[in-house]
Amino acid sequence: MKTRDLNSIIDLRSDTVTLPTEEMLEAIKTAELGDDVFKEDPTVNRLEEMAAKKMGKEAALLVPSGTMANLVSVTSNTTRGDSAVLEADSHIYWYEVGGISAIAGVLPLPVKGEMGVMNPKDVEAAIRPKGVHQPPTTLVCLENTHNRAGGTIVTPSQIEAISKVAKEHDLNSYMDGARIFNAAVALKVDVREFTRHVDNLMFCLSKGLSCPIGSVIVGTEGFIGRAKKMRKIVGGGMRQAGVIAAPGIIALEKMIDRLEDDHVNARLLAEGLAGIEGIDVDLRSVQTNMVMFNVKGLNIGADFFVDRLREQGLLALSLGKTRIRTVTHRGIEKEDVEVALAIIERAAKEIRSRKR
Ligand SMILES: Cc1ncc(COP(=O)(O)O)c(C=O)c1O
Repeated sequence: MKTRDLNSIIDLRSDTVTLPTEEMLEAIKTAELGDDVFKEDPTVNRLEEMAAKKMGKEAALLVPSGTMANLVSVTSNTTRGDSAVLEADSHIYWYEVGGISAIAGVLPLPVKGEMGVMNPKDVEAAIRPKGVHQPPTTLVCLENTHNRAGGTIVTPSQIEAISKVAKEHDLNSYMDGARIFNAAVALKVDVREFTRHVDNLMFCLSKGLSCPIGSVIVGTEGFIGRAKKMRKIVGGGMRQAGVIAAPGIIALEKMIDRLEDDHVNARLLAEGLAGIEGIDVDLRSVQTNMVMFNVKGLNIGADFFVDRLREQGLLALSLGKTRIRTVTHRGIEKEDVEVALAIIERAAKEIRSRKR
């Protein structure tokens, strides 16, 4: 098998590897700037106004990362010593270094969902009863699209059903909407269909929308006021942050509709993978720009397979013993998917022939 030129690496590890567009770089260069801690950066103010409006909420706050957005939001929705219901495979629970407990002081109550979607009955059952022995449950967190489940969508009606439980029990509802625009584009509905049933949420500029940095939290004025203080506590108060906001404005204006291309490419990838002997893909979970596949049928581990792909210039992410994640994004064209499939097919064939 011929080794690929390193310059033509196909990187399917994450949509976070996307680079800013020329227009974004130009916008950074020419952005009007000020001190955002004094609320004097006009570009940040403009992005926050745009984001709040787009999401149908009162106010917004720019933060450097999705992880900070989640931490600041969980903290601003709770009091230390509370508990929060979240999906057992959620990013907050798995990949944020336990900040929910270590910094927010909140006990997570994980609920296993079906393809990332929690059953409202399970959410209700996880809420701790009121009493001297219990940490008050004051928050439910959703994730949309759901990363570890493979970019799956929590639909507006599913959100509504969970929010109904939250309201009945006086809980706040929050959505880690890191990739919420992927969900909206996939279902061809306005993003507000997803946001109107939760009290507050965050979305990332730095994933499929191609910005280099940044996430935005949206919610009521009061919530955003608390979030702003918390952002300052964790060192997220930024000065001429217009350099981050400027590409964010372009992302909101021009980068959302093209997510559809990533979804088409993900589907193409998934269908190709489904036809390779020894590789297993659950096509039901391929709803946006992620494709999870399993190499158990090849009797090898995910790390081993990912290493073989890397040797051929294809990057993917090992996600446990035999599970591998691939993500399509602006740096991936249809032809890249075709080459990726050829590499995976050859690697699988080689492994199968060695085992015989
Ligand atoms: C669902 C979800 N939430 C939050 C984050 C955290 O974002 P960041 O990497 O910007 O901290 C990610 C990152 O991949 C994510 O997938």
